[in-house]
Amino acid sequence: MVEDVRGVAVAAQQARRLRGGARVRGVVLWDALRTVLDRIAPEGPSDVVDVGGGTGGFAVPLAELGHRVTVVDESPDALAALERRAAESGVTVRALQGDVVDLPDLLGTGSADLVLSHSVLEYVDDPAAAMAAITQAVRPGGSVSVLVAGQVGAALHRAVAGHFQDARRVLDDPDGRWGDHDRTPRRFTRESLTALAEDADLRVAELHGVRIFADLVPGSLLDGETDSAEALLALERAAAVHPVLRELATQLHLVADRK
Ligand SMILES: C[S@@+](CC[C@H](N)C(=O)[O-])C[C@H]1O[C@@H](n2cnc3c(N)ncnc32)[C@H](O)[C@@H]1O
Repeated sequence: MVEDVRGVAVAAQQARRLRGGARVRGVVLWDALRTVLDRIAPEGPSDVVDVGGGTGGFAVPLAELGHRVTVVDESPDALAALERRAAESGVTVRALQGDVVDLPDLLGTGSADLVLSHSVLEYVDDPAAAMAAITQAVRPGGSVSVLVAGQVGAALHRAVAGHFQDARRVLDDPDGRWGDHDRTPRRFTRESLTALAEDADLRVAELHGVRIFADLVPGSLLDGETDSAEALLALERAAAVHPVLRELATQLHLVADRK
C-alpha cells in the first residue's frame, strides 16, 4: 500500500505518480507536521493558521485530515484559488485577506494550536516583526512551523548549474541573493533562522533540511523506479536531521514552541 506524504493511503493511479519526485520532496515536511500535530494536540483536531498560505497547498490537505484551518494571505487572487481548491476537495478552509504582521488583530492572541509560515519570510518587509506576530497568534504550548529558502543550498544549486560567480555571491550576500535577477529577496541559514525564532521568545524544538538530495538528482532516476524513490526517500529522512547535511538543503524547516 502506497501512502501520500501525509501518511494517507492512496488509490493505484495516484500511487504511480507519488513514486516519483513529488513524494520524495514532500516527505520530510509532512513527517514533521504530523509529528508536531500529534504532540501539541494528541486528541486532535487542531486549530491551524497558515499565514501566506497561498492557494492552499498545505491548508487543503490539512483540512482533509480534519483540522480547522484558516489561511491569512495578502493576495486576493491566491485566496480565490484556495477557495476553489477547498470546494473541489469538499473541505472548508477559512480565508482571510491580511498581512502577516496583522495576525494578532485578525485572529486574536493565543488562538492557534499551530501556525504555518511556509515560504513567506523570504518576501515580507520585516521578518522579525512577522515572527513576533506569528508567535502572538499561537497559544502557550502551541507551535510554529516555519519553512524558508536555504542560503547554503542555493549556493550549491547555482554551482551545480555552472553559475560559479552566483554561488559565491549567495555565500557573501547578507540576504543570500545571487544578484539583481534573483527572484528570492532573502534566504536563511540555520543560524539566522534559529535567531529569528529565539528573538521572538520561541523555544526551538527541531530543525530539518528539506530537499537535500531530491533537488540534485535528475528526475529521470526516479520516474517509475519504485526502489530508487524509496531509497532516496529514506536518505532524505536521514539527511534531514544530519547536523551537516541539513544545512545544504533547498529549504530549512523549523518547529518552535511558544513558552
Ligand atoms: C511562495 S508563496 C507560498 C505559499 C504557501 N505557503 C506554500 O508554501 O505553498 C508566498 C505567499 O505568501 C503571501 N505573502 C507574501 N507576503 C505576505 C505578507 N506580508 N502577509 C501575508 N501574506 C504574504 C503571498 O501572497 C503568497 O501567497
